[in-house]
Amino acid sequence: MSSTGGERRLLVRDLAQVATPAGSAAPLRGSALGKVDVLEDAYVLCAGASIEAVGRMRDLSPLAAEIEEIDGRGRCAIPGLVDCHTHACFAGDRVDEFAKRAAGVSYEELHAAGGGIMSTVRATRTAGEQALAAAVRKHRNWMLRAGTTTFESKSGYGLDRETELASLRAVKAAGGVPTWLGAHAVPPEFDDADAYLDFALDEVLPAAAEIAEAADVFVERGAFDAAQARRYLTACAAAGLALRLHGDQFTEQGAVPLAIELGARSVDHLEATSDKGVAAIARSDVAAVLLPASALFLARPMPPARALVEAGAIVALATDFNPGSAFCESLPIVCSLAATQLQLSPAEALAACTVNAAHVLGRSDRVGRLAPGYDADLVLIEAPDWRYLSYHLGASFVAEVVLQGARAELG
Ligand code: NIG
Ligand code: FE
Repeated sequence: MSSTGGERRLLVRDLAQVATPAGSAAPLRGSALGKVDVLEDAYVLCAGASIEAVGRMRDLSPLAAEIEEIDGRGRCAIPGLVDCHTHACFAGDRVDEFAKRAAGVSYEELHAAGGGIMSTVRATRTAGEQALAAAVRKHRNWMLRAGTTTFESKSGYGLDRETELASLRAVKAAGGVPTWLGAHAVPPEFDDADAYLDFALDEVLPAAAEIAEAADVFVERGAFDAAQARRYLTACAAAGLALRLHGDQFTEQGAVPLAIELGARSVDHLEATSDKGVAAIARSDVAAVLLPASALFLARPMPPARALVEAGAIVALATDFNPGSAFCESLPIVCSLAATQLQLSPAEALAACTVNAAHVLGRSDRVGRLAPGYDADLVLIEAPDWRYLSYHLGASFVAEVVLQGARAELG
């Protein structure tokens, strides 16, 4: 294979293994989710921002001398990880609330008392756009160090026009995929959810739709009910946005049937989803985005991952990185939780946070696999076997990240 003249080329050589979800289909369901292609003693050749070739070292033809090389000995290459659900645009922290939760106060109690999401809204509104942009960059760097090369981030801690739009711009400026979470909570200056939605849809949606790729809504007691979510999402779809829902985190409030009715990209969380909900998702094209770090962080039940996979649902994994319910930016930790708490194999976890997560973000044609023509985004982990991704709990094993064909500065 040859590259077009003058393009920068990068050879990652002598890798213990190259592991990638098998085939070229997306999204993956059922048994296809668990199929990974593994090449031993292998290389990945990048040309410009794309992958040119992947193969065994013994099949590598001689290359020009000036090509940049990375020594892959003792390392495995996996596709750059895709975090399809984060809340990375926020100011301040919730460490005081975390300490209260450790002493027994619940997340829902903090929310009902005006803390929780609203306490981050207060900090985010006063931060200013520069500080928000810096916060997203900082969080993006944390994610990158953990192997995430594509991230989505929601707004949702502004809930006023200026801060919501500044949040979406900050995510985009940091290279993220922006989602307008205009319906995250009802801010105190509005009497009720409907009055707030009148404002959000009239005053914020037109500009938000210019920046965001998707819209999201928190369907829950104390947030938005299914009728309000339908109104919000229908208006967002009409403005050209893909649809996402936070559903069944604590209670089933109709998010699953609504997601299916509206043809949403995903319904996320699902810790409280019943067998009926599992079956409905599995019959649909709506992806189930599972967030086990959030369930762990809040000491909540884990989502019914095994049942979803067995029933044939599109299952993706994400961190839910945010200051309140999941202060965790690491997809490798999520893969460990998938194996230990969700009964997902390392292969299923890998596909769920690469190919299927890329599908949720509308990017599965170019992100999520190590194969010719895909973006040259790869992670080298210090490990003799790629399954250490799930096996080595909390490891700092990311040795190199290649982003768009160039070595990323991990800081
Ligand atoms: O996905 N559930 C709603 N939203 C976030 C949490 C946001 C927060 O606590 O700040 C979630 O868990
Ligand atoms: Fe979330």
